[in-house]
Amino acid sequence: MSASGDGSVPVHEGGVLIVDFGTQYCQLIARRIREMGVYSRITVPDRVGTMLEAMRPDALILSGGPRSVYEDDAPKLDPEILQRGLPVLGICYGLQWITQALGGRVDPAHGGAEYGRTEMKVGERGVLLDGIDASTVVWMSHGDHVAQLPSGFQVLASSEPCPVAATADPARKIYGLQFHPEVTHSVQGERVLRNFVLRIAGCRDDWHPGDVVAEKVRRIREQVGDEGEVVLGLSGGVDSSVAAVLIHKAIGERLHCVFVDNGLLRKGEREGVEALFRDEYHIDLKVADARQLFLSELAGVADPERKRKIIGRVFVDVFREAAAELRSSHGKQARFLGQGTLYPDVIESVAAHGGATATIKSHHNVGGLPEDLDMELVEPLRDLFKDEVRQIGREMGLPSSLVDRQPFPGPGLAVRCLGEITEERLEPLRQADAIVREEIESRGLHDGLWQYFAVSLPVQSVGVMGDQRTYENACVLRVVSSTDAMTADWEMLPVDVLRRISNRIINEVRGLNRVCLDISSKPPSTIEWE
Ligand code: XMP
Repeated sequence: MSASGDGSVPVHEGGVLIVDFGTQYCQLIARRIREMGVYSRITVPDRVGTMLEAMRPDALILSGGPRSVYEDDAPKLDPEILQRGLPVLGICYGLQWITQALGGRVDPAHGGAEYGRTEMKVGERGVLLDGIDASTVVWMSHGDHVAQLPSGFQVLASSEPCPVAATADPARKIYGLQFHPEVTHSVQGERVLRNFVLRIAGCRDDWHPGDVVAEKVRRIREQVGDEGEVVLGLSGGVDSSVAAVLIHKAIGERLHCVFVDNGLLRKGEREGVEALFRDEYHIDLKVADARQLFLSELAGVADPERKRKIIGRVFVDVFREAAAELRSSHGKQARFLGQGTLYPDVIESVAAHGGATATIKSHHNVGGLPEDLDMELVEPLRDLFKDEVRQIGREMGLPSSLVDRQPFPGPGLAVRCLGEITEERLEPLRQADAIVREEIESRGLHDGLWQYFAVSLPVQSVGVMGDQRTYENACVLRVVSSTDAMTADWEMLPVDVLRRISNRIINEVRGLNRVCLDISSKPPSTIEWE
């Protein structure tokens, strides 16, 4: 397993190299910088030398971290890195490491850890704090602080408990922040980062994800060679679709896609994938129809975690079999496995394997395949964030219905069909979900919504239809906004749209006779019901 931010060769020279000292915010720092149009990569302390050569960054950012510089095994760098004239910004632990490395002193903060929003008073602004208010709210999260700065450094700002909240040694181009500019709670944090990246380090904002298509294609060709064949699991989601089109551009008919129909898909999903990839792109696409297998394995299971595990296991079995068939028909050249792995997955999975960053959540992705498939991975998106993958998708002409589509969980409708899963319950849910999507999308209301879908409850209630009594399941309408799915707000649709969705579901869908509204935010609820 390669290092945090992965060991692959950067796709772009210059920009900002971020050294991961173990903070939970590394990804956020990288994203903030890429949003400025400046390339950035994350690396672990051990790989800094290699990455400096491969990437030739214009600046370094040393991240925060959970350790104290006085602990024996606290992460460290060779202090020589501070003598190169390369602009350096230390954030939190990064600042404390710089302080210690240059002969200053770090002490435990008075009264223990300082955590949360703090009022910061700005004195001398310098370029780093140019444009920042005299008093501004910043986010602190530290147990130690700088008690004595190394010579050459001046204090730019402080807070009540923290004497050095921002500092600079402009002659050596070394800067430090005790607060976290990358989190939105630091009200003017983005401005501080921009000042460092664009003005102090002079980085060019020449990073346009769409421009890297040709380079990605070249690298896929180089990796796969003239005869290699790639097998790729296509889910119809943005990541695997963009990966497929990129790989197809590189090696054409030597790409073989497998689409697993698990019977838990939304209405028209399989047909849409076939129409786009097989008919339009002429990609070799094998559909593994495993609907019955999934249903029989899930029969009688109501526990959410068991359902997820079964779906994950069956998916791997089906994919493995389909891949083996492809490999036997294409010989030993079919030794490559294409995957739409993204940068956040790389960072998080590295953390799970002992990297510096603490893991916050475990991924449940049925696309996660076991290593014993004995295939070499082709992962053209592993240094990109989701919005960048979307830009590449657009650049390559993929339709907006695919590139901008709402997230759909790997376990599909199974996590929205509470209780036991049967085809008799899935079909009404599929119809209700299609109605929800149609009514919202046809009015353009989906802009700004993260997800909008129906959930089927294993709860029956009495209704009346014509002169007949009905006794059918209830369904729930879930509409949320979010920027990253970590938090989400419930959203209200216009009343006439709610009325129309409810009328259509109750009148058109046999098996559902009641529609409820979910008005819960995340946290404490989650977006999905299971
Ligand atoms: P929750 O329900 O945890 O969901 O608030 C957060 C986001 O993740 C999606 N989700 C999944 N995506 N495999 C996926 O690929 C999964 O197992 C899975 N479970 C939840 C969910 O739709 C939401 O966008």
